[in-house]
Amino acid sequence: MRKIYLFDTTLRDGEQSPGVNLNAQEKVEVALQLERMGIDRIEAGFPAASPGDLAAVNAVARAIKNASVIGLSRSREQDIEAAREALIGAQDPCLHLFLATSPIHRQYKLRMDKQQVLETAEAAIRYAKKYFSKIEFSPEDAGRTELDFLCEVTAMAIRAGATVVNIPDTVGYMTPSEFGNIFKTLKEQVPGIEKIQLSAHCHDDLGMATANSLAAILNGADQIEGTINGIGERAGNTALEEVVMALETRAEFFQAKTGVVLSEIYRTSTLVSKMTGMPVPGNKAIVGANAFAHESGIHQDGMLKEKTTYEIISPETIGLKTKLPIGKLSGRNAFRERLNELGYHLNDEQINEAFAKFKVLADRKKQVYDEDLRALVEEKLVGVQESYKLDYMQVLYGNQAIPTATIRLLKVDGESIEEVATGNGSVDALYKAIDKATNEQVELEDYSIKSVTQGTDALGEVHVVMRQNGHVVTGRGISTDILEASAKAYVEALNRVIERRTAPVASKADKTSV
Ligand code: KIV
Ligand code: ZN
Repeated sequence: MRKIYLFDTTLRDGEQSPGVNLNAQEKVEVALQLERMGIDRIEAGFPAASPGDLAAVNAVARAIKNASVIGLSRSREQDIEAAREALIGAQDPCLHLFLATSPIHRQYKLRMDKQQVLETAEAAIRYAKKYFSKIEFSPEDAGRTELDFLCEVTAMAIRAGATVVNIPDTVGYMTPSEFGNIFKTLKEQVPGIEKIQLSAHCHDDLGMATANSLAAILNGADQIEGTINGIGERAGNTALEEVVMALETRAEFFQAKTGVVLSEIYRTSTLVSKMTGMPVPGNKAIVGANAFAHESGIHQDGMLKEKTTYEIISPETIGLKTKLPIGKLSGRNAFRERLNELGYHLNDEQINEAFAKFKVLADRKKQVYDEDLRALVEEKLVGVQESYKLDYMQVLYGNQAIPTATIRLLKVDGESIEEVATGNGSVDALYKAIDKATNEQVELEDYSIKSVTQGTDALGEVHVVMRQNGHVVTGRGISTDILEASAKAYVEALNRVIERRTAPVASKADKTSV
């Protein structure tokens, strides 16, 4: 079996999804989970984009011990210098250089001819080689680049010292046979190709990112790039969990495998969803809520007789364990043990805090499921600076009355602010009261709610998308009460709006885009 290396770009290309902004603490939290999951290479950000992103990449570089940490850079010296600074302290640093090569990009974006592209990229690789032993070079929009020119660019990158050449289908335009053919041709025609690794980086604009990545593997790719849950620019990137499970489930066909710890997949997916505020669609392959649900009577009958009739992957494989729920009589040790089984290794102080929250939850809800525990622990992992905290809320609602909300927020300095407002509905009244208290001018772009588990006493999870002066942020709140979850999500989004204004420019909207 050939080993396929996984290059995760959730923290860079994934962060290019609209409304996603991760601060340094959040990036470290996700990177540690990617490391636990057995990802080989983690692209932590684009250091030249902003001082905040440089600091975040550095925090990841220092935290990760068992994976290579990568910083993205345009083919220019200032970017390479920024990446060099960001990767100080990394155990296994790697620079990811890129320059567009397709005719459209050469003519309209770069205003360079082929020769200039070759010279600019070569100069950048040679400059970077002074500092980095591992360099990945990406001819951006390779999918739409003339194949003979792509061979020329690849040969140049190898001569200049690149260790990986990555082939991006930047606009998700390729079909599997075309994309596979690029790898076949490079393997056959480029001198020195055996000295480097070939990588595939696909976007999902036509829904073919996973198929194209697998075609690349069948034609000799050594590395696949992608994100968890397939998040990313526009329609997103290749969903790594899909590639991993395709190789695992069809091992005989692909004759290739990854080093991923499969049982960490589900947890990584939920963590990324929580940190980015991007819900996982119910029908998403591998990690969607319906991926293992069997609805029709015929299917259920088949499942009861023999699971393999309708199940090609067992939920346990990806870490979706459905253990017996725990309840308010469960002690601290049982609680800690269950968290350990779920992969959360908390220190004593964190356990005490989580246990206190668990007791409150168990009082409201008879049975606490694994999903509730994940929600409870991961709520704490969100690293946004809390300018405001929800202290108290009350909503008066009657179908003949005007909904009225009273809220009290605590500021970081301990001051408390109380406000009352009426609205079209309970949530509207709540949000108007919070707006009055914080004096922030924001627009609510989206509001969604889902239940974490089944039953009327289930935890509700609310996601909001909020805009201020063209900048989009997200917020998430959970509670057994949907109004409280709504208020928490709104306050978290407001805290992000304020953090974006005050913290060292970490916001993507302020970054140089790729
Ligand atoms: O999609 C793309 O071309 C990229 C490059 C920076 C590799 O993300
Ligand atoms: Zn990309």
